[in-house]
Amino acid sequence: MKNLFDPSVDSLDGIPAEGGDYAAWEDRLVDEEKKEEDSELEIGLRPRHLADYIGQEKIKENLSIYIDAARKRGEPLDHVLLYGPPGLGKTTLSGIIANELGVNIRVTSGPAIEKQGDLAALLTNLSENDVLFIDEIHRLPRPVEEILYPAMEDYSLDIIIGKGPAARSIRLPLAKFTLIGATTRAGQLTTPLRDRFGVLFKLELYTTEELTTIVLRSARILGVEIDEDGAREIASRSRGTPRIANRFLKRVRDFAQIKGDGVVTREIARYALGALEVDELGLDNVDRRMLETIIRAYDGGPVGLETLAATVGEESITLEDVYEPYLMQIGFLNRTPRGRVATRLAYEHLNLPYRTEVKYGGTDRQMRLFDGLPEDQN
Ligand code: ADE
Repeated sequence: MKNLFDPSVDSLDGIPAEGGDYAAWEDRLVDEEKKEEDSELEIGLRPRHLADYIGQEKIKENLSIYIDAARKRGEPLDHVLLYGPPGLGKTTLSGIIANELGVNIRVTSGPAIEKQGDLAALLTNLSENDVLFIDEIHRLPRPVEEILYPAMEDYSLDIIIGKGPAARSIRLPLAKFTLIGATTRAGQLTTPLRDRFGVLFKLELYTTEELTTIVLRSARILGVEIDEDGAREIASRSRGTPRIANRFLKRVRDFAQIKGDGVVTREIARYALGALEVDELGLDNVDRRMLETIIRAYDGGPVGLETLAATVGEESITLEDVYEPYLMQIGFLNRTPRGRVATRLAYEHLNLPYRTEVKYGGTDRQMRLFDGLPEDQN
């Protein structure tokens, strides 16, 4: 395991300025959906102030009040849990929170903290009001999580010294701090951990308008020439996710340079994203394979997640966290108690004839109601 406590790795005196040295800050386990080049790209593009963070309006509104209040009182911000699909800016938001509070942030992740001692070392190195950011907090080993309870509640560290009958517990005071936990699966957090967060924010997928603004901003920082239509084309195919939008911008820039005159236009964006097999709605091969599997192999569903994952050849957790949120958002997929169901919109998008026969011995209407589809969609 890498040394989490080497100050050159995880400690940071404030977040570096845009284009500054984010390498140390970002040198941590990346999650499975985040590619190395995304990290590099994101690092330079991260806004440092709440005012520069686009979208998530309700969160920003509340957060700015909590931050101002904590600052005025000279106290740490309450512990914050950020949850939602990957790529929506949870890490970015955490950096902004620390920056706006004027404190240091230490960044780590659930799977990187293997032993109680690892977390104890991190906690004892925090200064007053600092932020500790734990990504993928649902993956913290249970014994480590138990160290967090008194740390979050009383800013104290309970450690056991000795073994057997001679063992005794001592309590060490910690500096007051803010824990920011990020997770794609709030449901997997234990109740005692979830209950210790004072502030819970669910990040939502971004609108095309918001993503267009993000793409234009990223292009400005990267020095990419782009017009509004080009940005909108990228945005509308980015499945509501800034990380994907920024990744596409980089790829489309390559096409603009080689196939065009360097300017990212709507035409170039369409050409490039077509070459990347990303369709008008942002669906890629995995999305299409998933929907086609449900439709062709399972008659439109319902099909269980595990079965679907095995047929598609992806991990069920990836389907659930990465692919399903967007497919559900655009109304192509429903989760029902008996499994996943492709909707009529999915059939139409894939140019497949919509099933009409009656299944399960019920009427067509009963079947649709059971599948959780509004009647007027049928
Ligand atoms: N980059 C990634 N997410 C962003 C956001 N919400 N606002 C601005 N830039 C971003």
